[in-house]
Amino acid sequence: MYLVVHMDRNLLLAQKREELHLAGGKERIEKQHQQGKLTARERVTLLLDENSFNEIGAFVEHRSTNFGLEKQKYPGDGVITGFGNIHGRLVYVYSQDFTVLGGSLSETQAAKICRVMDLAMKNGAPIIGMNDSGGARIQEGVVSLSGYADIFFRNTRASGVIPQLSLIMGPCAGGAVYSPALTDFIFMVEETSYMFVTGPNVVKTVTHEEVTSEDLGGAKTHAEKSGVNHFTAVNDMECIKKARDLITYLPQNSYELAPEPSVFEFSSSKLNQIEKIIPENTNTPYDIKKVIECIIDDASFREVQEDFAKNIVVGFARLEGKTIGIIANQPAAMAGVLDIDASRKGARFVRFCDSFNIPLLVIEDVPGFLPGTDQEWRGIITHGAKLLYAFAEATVPKITIITRKAYGGAYCVMNSKSLGADLSFAWPTAEIAVMGAKGAAEIIFKREISSSENPQEKWLEKEAEYADTFANPYRAAERGIIDDVILPKETRQKLINGYNMLENKSETLPKKKHGNIPL
Ligand code: HXC
Repeated sequence: MYLVVHMDRNLLLAQKREELHLAGGKERIEKQHQQGKLTARERVTLLLDENSFNEIGAFVEHRSTNFGLEKQKYPGDGVITGFGNIHGRLVYVYSQDFTVLGGSLSETQAAKICRVMDLAMKNGAPIIGMNDSGGARIQEGVVSLSGYADIFFRNTRASGVIPQLSLIMGPCAGGAVYSPALTDFIFMVEETSYMFVTGPNVVKTVTHEEVTSEDLGGAKTHAEKSGVNHFTAVNDMECIKKARDLITYLPQNSYELAPEPSVFEFSSSKLNQIEKIIPENTNTPYDIKKVIECIIDDASFREVQEDFAKNIVVGFARLEGKTIGIIANQPAAMAGVLDIDASRKGARFVRFCDSFNIPLLVIEDVPGFLPGTDQEWRGIITHGAKLLYAFAEATVPKITIITRKAYGGAYCVMNSKSLGADLSFAWPTAEIAVMGAKGAAEIIFKREISSSENPQEKWLEKEAEYADTFANPYRAAERGIIDDVILPKETRQKLINGYNMLENKSETLPKKKHGNIPL
């Protein structure tokens, strides 16, 4: 008798497990696939190492009875939560299931998400959210909104303690965008995901603008215009692959170091290539990414926000297998000038790296801050100060390489020695001065030039004099403002030696509750 009951119970569990896979039903799963989207469960399976997923709260159901919801109960209540491994390292995960009530966030769904967030915090491991939801569950009213706030609270408390990744793989509207916005990195899938505070219909009513969901808040829009999207993928599979890859660059939490892969490759031919990158003419653009590629381990650069504020390049790379964070001016875009977007982009990345013990490398070729009413009226003063603040505040090992221009306030901002760089190097092509020779000559030799019989010739003569004095790295080297002048091909080894020397760097900020970064 006992045996029979026992078997029945096992059968019941098997049946219940089967139901989990049916989610919102075959039809809705079909629709999801037709749209080119994977289901929530398929996404979890792809994200985690094989057979490593442990589900939590699989049978949780909502308790709402409003608007007939009592007749629409699905085990798991529209979100799959649990933990597993990525390349053998622990991560926590939640994946919203659009086939169940549009993946909408209920009181119980929020509680499930909060549970894995709490576990992630207690155990010091990253949390990855896969978002595919129509937002607050409308039938539940305020308890759903409160659930969102519970999540926001945890996102904020977890910030800087554990890495938080948001993969946007479907609609993400209203309050649903603010949890991802509080996390460290947002991934978006082209054409099937979007993020906005209010959708096209509300936009039309309020501002009379006609705009599609894609244009308003698709992956491309947020990659190029707003900078909200850090990584774009062509489909769910690529999105998940990119997230798995990024995790290999990050530590588990703010008390640990990033993992060190045992093997790395470096093609020695890059040592010759790097010598040929800087053009003869100091005003000719070049691609700073070529410099980056010639310094780091082969194929290890992972650019963040590739399509936003292209005048600054940020991303992770490896040097002899160790993760570093790179912030580099890009002379190939707007001459590498610093503007509002570049400052915000750089500052955010610096703060992420500093939170998670990732050493910083700054590659500098910057003609200054972008002048003009547009920038001034939109607050370049405050936004530029964010980058200053971020570098000055960062206590991780910080090394700067000046490849060419280091002018004016932008010189100070880009991790200058006085701002706390541990080591600062310049290439022989470096020019470190208050401004370019042409402008400088015009100001300081104004009287001499205007009173000259041939002002144009005088100007050129004075420009050359200023350039001879400052368009080189040696004045700065004489003052110890840079530590050494090095050949481009020596850069990689100098950096390896530098970061090894700084391995045990210990620097603490003055005791405070928190600073007041110019937001
Ligand atoms: C309950 C929802 C839902 C929601 C969708 N569904 N959104 N159920 N609450 N918020 C259900 C639908 O009824 C439908 O159920 C199923 O999910 C799929 O929805 P469809 O509309 O058929 O899908 P689609 O055509 O792809 O459109 C997806 C969508 C649309 C664009 C997301 O559903 C939509 O606009 N939903 C409402 C979005 C919204 O306004 N949310 C509230 C945001 S305000 P069936 O049974 O037919 O499958 C908010 C405030 C939070 O979130 C504030 C926190 C601070």
